[in-house]
Amino acid sequence: MTMTSSKDWSAAQYLKFEAERTQPARDLLSRVPLTTPARIIDLGCGPANSTKVLSTRFPQARITGLDSSHDMIAKAKTVLPTSDFHVADLNTWTTDEKVDLFFSNAVFQWLKPDERIAVIKRLLAPQEKGTVFALQVPNNLSEPSHVLMGEAAAAGPWAAKLDGVQREGFQSPQELYDLVKPFAGEVHIFETSYYHSLESHEAVVEWVKGTGLRPFVDPLDEDEKRGFLEEYLRRLRGAYPVSVDGRVLLKYPRLFMVAVK
Ligand SMILES: C[S@@+](CC[C@H](N)C(=O)[O-])C[C@H]1O[C@@H](n2cnc3c(N)ncnc32)[C@H](O)[C@@H]1O
Repeated sequence: MTMTSSKDWSAAQYLKFEAERTQPARDLLSRVPLTTPARIIDLGCGPANSTKVLSTRFPQARITGLDSSHDMIAKAKTVLPTSDFHVADLNTWTTDEKVDLFFSNAVFQWLKPDERIAVIKRLLAPQEKGTVFALQVPNNLSEPSHVLMGEAAAAGPWAAKLDGVQREGFQSPQELYDLVKPFAGEVHIFETSYYHSLESHEAVVEWVKGTGLRPFVDPLDEDEKRGFLEEYLRRLRGAYPVSVDGRVLLKYPRLFMVAVK
């Protein structure tokens, strides 16, 4: 099994690290070359963290948030009642409207590799010159936080159930450029590594529980889940030192793309 599991995303778990998860959305938006976009779509809006960033920067814009998770959309509607939110799957959603900005923070890594480019092309190619498609994805599959998920998955009685579970890596910057440039006037790509100071190794587990760990724990029963998480935590303690203040520094590389039609 790869990609998202059938279980729904949890807004509450995701929001435990709201400030850290929202900073990349701010950084991505700071690179969007638009001053007064009228129409914005937040693709994979989650609990509206990214939508709030958009509506604060562009209060005049009409903003729609889309997400495949009912729990996320229910939460988003309570957070930002002035925007409009719908349950929708990016793999099939499309629009005939003129859109100024497609914005997507931490979503496209969950789509299958060939679907990612297909979605960007389906939405951006029919738009007028000047429309922007901005996305950010974690680029952390080589970090201990993620490598150790795979190692812990192979190291217990749950191994057969978790055989083959792993998100597929994102396109390299060169691949992304070559795949998007044929239907965009400009493609800007950049990377940033964040270093999040988290309270403890347990907090690292809580962080990834809201995202990358989900495909590993979702297939397990309660006993297996407990065993797997203990094994993962034991490995994290070996990989991440304790900082001078007793906290743990989690390195988190992210990849950004701003394409202009
Ligand atoms: C890590 S969250 C990002 C939420 C928000 N953009 C933010 O900046 O905090 C990823 C979101 O992508 C959504 N998602 C994953 N696959 C999707 C798909 N195929 N179509 C729509 N949403 C999807 C998930 O439900 C989840 O809410």
